[in-house]
Amino acid sequence: WAIHAPYVAAINRLKQARNAVILAHNYMTPQIYHGIADVVGDSLQLAIEATRVEADVIVQCGVHFMAETAKILNPAKTVLIPDMEAGCSLAESITPEGIAEMRRRYPGAPVVTYVNTSAEVKAASDICCTSSNAVQIVAALEAETIIMTPDKYLAQNVAQQVPQKNIVWYDGSCIVHEQFTAQELREFRDWNPGTRIIAHPECPPDVVAEADFSGSTSGIIDYVAREQPEKALLVTECSMASNTSDALPGIEFVGPCNMCPHMKKITLEKVLWSLHSMEGAVEVDSQVAEGARQAVQRMIDLSR
Ligand code: 13P
Ligand code: SF4
Repeated sequence: WAIHAPYVAAINRLKQARNAVILAHNYMTPQIYHGIADVVGDSLQLAIEATRVEADVIVQCGVHFMAETAKILNPAKTVLIPDMEAGCSLAESITPEGIAEMRRRYPGAPVVTYVNTSAEVKAASDICCTSSNAVQIVAALEAETIIMTPDKYLAQNVAQQVPQKNIVWYDGSCIVHEQFTAQELREFRDWNPGTRIIAHPECPPDVVAEADFSGSTSGIIDYVAREQPEKALLVTECSMASNTSDALPGIEFVGPCNMCPHMKKITLEKVLWSLHSMEGAVEVDSQVAEGARQAVQRMIDLSR
């Protein structure tokens, strides 16, 4: 922490001077998460918080689609992302043409698109979802056949929970969560009996089936805080265990995790530079933004 302290102090001073608010995803490093964030959360919470920001500037400590979502929902604000290259394998996996192709294959079926996508893809969709509300959104739609894009594993996990729907999916996946295997979790459980295993729904269904609980990043944190297991294995991005263990020192966080190279592009140094230079402002074409806003707003309204 000592080497980070000058950055934390400088960022917190500049934040005041610029009238800025820092929204940080749960995958940020502990220095960002505990040191400079005003609001932390999962994708849904950050999207909702973005609509409430009254400050002039939002600094999005997360990946590009999160900053874009904040800009779409609160266009009057300057939304900065400290590294424009902070992408997401899911967002990169699909374009509006991919949505059009799914519509051609399943005529009349509504398209539910994960928020981990570009504004153009959201605008081509009917409604968005996040990992925390995907089941709720799909169950609330009237149609029987529903297209879910782009995360095939999230779609397959949702399909198991909403068997009354015929869910069809696109072929995208998260480079972080697709690497976990059911076999490694089974072996882990054998070596560490009594460990609570908690998996993000971007993991393959056989991995989720080995877990005691599956939920969004904030769902995972809430579960651990509520259940207070002696040992927990968080089958998700590495910073989740670090951030959660700081708040819950009585729990031992064990086992493998995978790092998201995109999330880890956001550093204290880059946050300081973006607040100093005001570089890295996210812009979205107004027509695209309106289409995307409708898809995101429908999701927020249905999640209440
Ligand atoms: P959450 O909405 O659960 O925070 O997920 C975002 C994400 O990118 C997980 O990989
Ligand atoms: Fe995208 Fe996966 Fe990284 Fe989340 S963890 S931002 S889904 S690549």
